[in-house]
Amino acid sequence: MKELIKRLVEAYGPTGSEESVRSLIMEEVKPYVDEMQVDALGNLIAIKRGGGKKLMLASHMDEIGVMVTHIDDKGFLRFYSVGGLSPFTLIGNRCYFANGTVGVFGMERLDAIKDLAMNKMFIDIGADSREEALEKVNIGDTAAIRREFCDLGKRLVSKAMDNRIACAVQIEALKQVQNLAFDVYAVFTTQEEVGLRGARVAAFGITPDIGIAVDVTATGDTPKSATMDVTLGKGPTVKVRDSSLLCTPAVRRHMEQVAKANDIPYQLEVLQAGGTDGGAIQMTKSGIPTGVMSIPCRYIHTASEMVDYDDVEQGVRFLVKLMETDYLG
Ligand code: CO
Ligand code: ZN
Repeated sequence: MKELIKRLVEAYGPTGSEESVRSLIMEEVKPYVDEMQVDALGNLIAIKRGGGKKLMLASHMDEIGVMVTHIDDKGFLRFYSVGGLSPFTLIGNRCYFANGTVGVFGMERLDAIKDLAMNKMFIDIGADSREEALEKVNIGDTAAIRREFCDLGKRLVSKAMDNRIACAVQIEALKQVQNLAFDVYAVFTTQEEVGLRGARVAAFGITPDIGIAVDVTATGDTPKSATMDVTLGKGPTVKVRDSSLLCTPAVRRHMEQVAKANDIPYQLEVLQAGGTDGGAIQMTKSGIPTGVMSIPCRYIHTASEMVDYDDVEQGVRFLVKLMETDYLG
């Protein structure tokens, strides 16, 4: 599965430019599903029929990126973030555009580093003039952070664990699932990082009986980190709440029962800041019972997001069992 993870996390897919990630996933899941659809927002909906209620799964394909806002006479690009990104994570980093153009993040001279803001930074693509820069990039082009996948053995590091690791879990679960208890609508969503946009329209179109989003969540296990009861390596989580939703209590209980019945280690997750596709699914039409499973992840929204491989494997087992166990409400 590590080979699939590497290909997914190294794919180019900042928010709004998810095409290459989507093609990769389509190729991967095609033999394991009955039908695939791509909607107007670019969501990939992979349907696997087992009869019964509709279960919607959602993993977002997009990653945090930057968008060119201005190109100056010397060929330097000004930019803004697409999704929640701290300028501090960009110092010394590189980005790359869909056409392969690589850029280096630079910054103006500052009196104090705390004054750093996105508008004090620029991207240097090695051009000497606006004309030269325009040969490679244009206003409105997006770039993703450029950083290779790194396998530390037990721990895996990448610029896009959020959320390709969940895409990998969802793909692998579709491959392994045996006795479906649902008609499964496995959605690989777009534009999560700018407000759960893909999931919103996908959920409206599908109108599932139950929704389960899969994403990463923060941890509280590094030196002097924010207090949070999630640790790398102790299993996937059953989310209780984040900024976008209070998970439906009956779904949360169902998820806990499924984990316990199958000896899958899990952690209860209370995420103080940040949302998930679950929030959009739950608020669809007259409301959809919704839960979220997360893979614990350190350093979210940086070039080096870290997950634990055991959590990933247990996450696959968990999602398989969730597809195989009917939800009685
Ligand atoms: Co994110
Ligand atoms: Zn995410």
